[in-house]
Amino acid sequence: MFYIAGTGSALPEKVVSNDDLAEFLDTSDEWIYTRTGIRRRHVLTHERLDDLAIASAKTAMADAGVAGADIDLVLCATMRGDTITPSLACTVAEAVGSHAPAFDLNAACVGVLYCMEIADSFIATGKAETVLIVSAEAMSKLLDWTDRASCVLFGDGAGAMVVKKGAGRLAGVLCSDPDTRAIRMPNIEGMNSPYNKIAQEPLAMHMDGGEVYKFAVNAMGHRIEEVCAKAGLAPGEIDWYLPHQANVRIIDASLKKFKIEKSKVLLNISECGNMSATSVMVLLDEYAKKGTFKPGDKLLFVAFGGGLTSGAVIVEWRKN
Ligand code: ACO
Repeated sequence: MFYIAGTGSALPEKVVSNDDLAEFLDTSDEWIYTRTGIRRRHVLTHERLDDLAIASAKTAMADAGVAGADIDLVLCATMRGDTITPSLACTVAEAVGSHAPAFDLNAACVGVLYCMEIADSFIATGKAETVLIVSAEAMSKLLDWTDRASCVLFGDGAGAMVVKKGAGRLAGVLCSDPDTRAIRMPNIEGMNSPYNKIAQEPLAMHMDGGEVYKFAVNAMGHRIEEVCAKAGLAPGEIDWYLPHQANVRIIDASLKKFKIEKSKVLLNISECGNMSATSVMVLLDEYAKKGTFKPGDKLLFVAFGGGLTSGAVIVEWRKN
């Protein structure tokens, strides 16, 4: 029920290379690159996450030719914005002059795909015609920077797309395989209630890399199979794959089964690392701006993440 009418993205200025990390961690460019495909990532320094989210939303709106008053719903995929309230979606809505309903959604790295499916439902039921979807993740503030097994994997960034009522989305599949151990990030320590008897845990990501790896390869493969079946397409008929950028080896392994040509698989992990929900959004904007997509091209988004969540969406490129 929707097509992608505009895209945008914004990354922090500061770029941190693998060699930079090796200055304070027992790691190396060789280890990180060969195990993950990551060379560098952008990290927040003087910017707020809000600033990046707003900048990417404004770019996507200009690209789509819509004003704040045209937007019927603002969705923001994030694990944690700068403030708990207002939500990041409300902060963006204020900045772009929208009074539409606005809320954040946390489905970790799959957040944008969840937002696309919610947008589709709002549009299909006549509740909205134009939806602004934003994603923004400050991964650098959620990590344990002494844990070399996790902190080298992530980067910060924001992205946005405007979707409008019309032919474009062909099919979508969303899933959860609930697992509270494989990826776990306890809440940040805050003001403790005098009544609370449970000690607060410090904020930091804990991840069983090997478990997540196995889940990811299977989940991405299954979601591709399911969403293609729903759309009545063979995986070979997809023009462009936009997979979540967690690890090149995960992407290669999950696409190998379908003998997908590497030239159809879009990547930016070497420059950005894993930006959680934002990864597929920045990837989309980058390749849209390069003119990679032609009208009628079939784009397949596929992602997995904490929760554990996974999903895939196929959209035919139309762009106004
Ligand atoms: N530098 C150098 N050595 C390291 C590093 C590092 N940065 N990190 C771990 N090692 C060491 C380990 O300690 C281990 O040493 P040991 O053999 O002496 O014990 C060795 O390297 C091998 O470790 P493995 O964990 O077996 O390495 P693996 O090849 O599995 O790669 C990785 C680890 C990259 C984390 C991989 O498992 C992976 O990509 N998993 C999926 C992660 C992911 O996608 N997470 C998504 C999270 S989404 C979200 O949370 C929002």
